[in-house]
Amino acid sequence: MTRQAILDFLTAPSANELFERALQVRLRTKGNTVFLRGLIELSSICQRDCLYCGMRHSNCNVKRYAMQDDEIVACAKLARQFHFGTVVLQAGENAALWTRERIVRLIQRIKAESGQKVTLSLGERSEADTAAWKEAGADRYLLRFETSDCTLFAKIHPGAVATDGHPRLAQLRRMKAQGYEIGSGIMLGLPGQTLRSVVDDLLLFRELNLDMVGLGPYLKHPQTPLGQSNKPSEVPVSVDFTCRCYALARLLLPQANIPSTTALSTLDPAQGRIRGLTSGANVFMPNLTPAHYREGYQIYPDKICVVAPEADSLTALYATLEALQLQVQEG
Ligand code: 5AD
Repeated sequence: MTRQAILDFLTAPSANELFERALQVRLRTKGNTVFLRGLIELSSICQRDCLYCGMRHSNCNVKRYAMQDDEIVACAKLARQFHFGTVVLQAGENAALWTRERIVRLIQRIKAESGQKVTLSLGERSEADTAAWKEAGADRYLLRFETSDCTLFAKIHPGAVATDGHPRLAQLRRMKAQGYEIGSGIMLGLPGQTLRSVVDDLLLFRELNLDMVGLGPYLKHPQTPLGQSNKPSEVPVSVDFTCRCYALARLLLPQANIPSTTALSTLDPAQGRIRGLTSGANVFMPNLTPAHYREGYQIYPDKICVVAPEADSLTALYATLEALQLQVQEG
């Protein structure tokens, strides 16, 4: 697909044809199945100060917490009980708290005690760390590059390691070589983001040969510098635009696993996840973080599931999937 064709799809008055094409490709590569991946938010104690994120180090209103290893393994057992097949260990970036050795032990325990596959989402880490985790049995790693516009990336990530190019791409390529399935993605609607840069982002998904693509709307958090800025974005924050990007990601990477993200559902709690799953997405990530911690993990405001008890929200999810004639596949 050419740059112009992608831009045309992003800006056409209606995207119905695009959604239909993406749905057909999804059906061909994935059938009528969805994967459920249990998200465990290990801790809100973050050392980074990203300008958009509510959990940034400088935000003193955040309830900081860190789960104990036994609690994390208990969540993985819940994932087994629900037949998910995979848990995603995500945390605010903190190499002192989530040391190489601790994560090795966690991976080994989760594998032995719950049989779940392990996806890591622990931020920017060294080659030695990710090698040790692969060796311990980790299957996948998620690290969004957030935007391929290096200048914008540097602006919103204070302390980003200054290299020639984008600081996260080297790690993604390295992990691919280490044998991980790799996932990356972006936020849509960042102040200063351009439509042309989103076209670059989409093409970069293909160039990186991503196994997983995670993207969602940027949602303003009032307790952050970016949340207080009125700088406009050329990129709309909308369900429609997010779904156009799912659909284009599906056309560019027919085999990829693409979640309908929590940020999309937060934008439209009633329809968001359905719209995602009918425009190319094939994964949903229910939140397994114990309810009493969730309030501490507000990367953006009104994040859904912050109060919803999981039994209820899972029942609703299964009803949605049934209505869409989608079957859950363990894995
Ligand atoms: N709005 C939307 N998404 C956000 N993320 C962080 N802060 C926000 C926000 N304010 C996303 C980033 C990060 C992922 C874990 O959450 O893309 O990689």
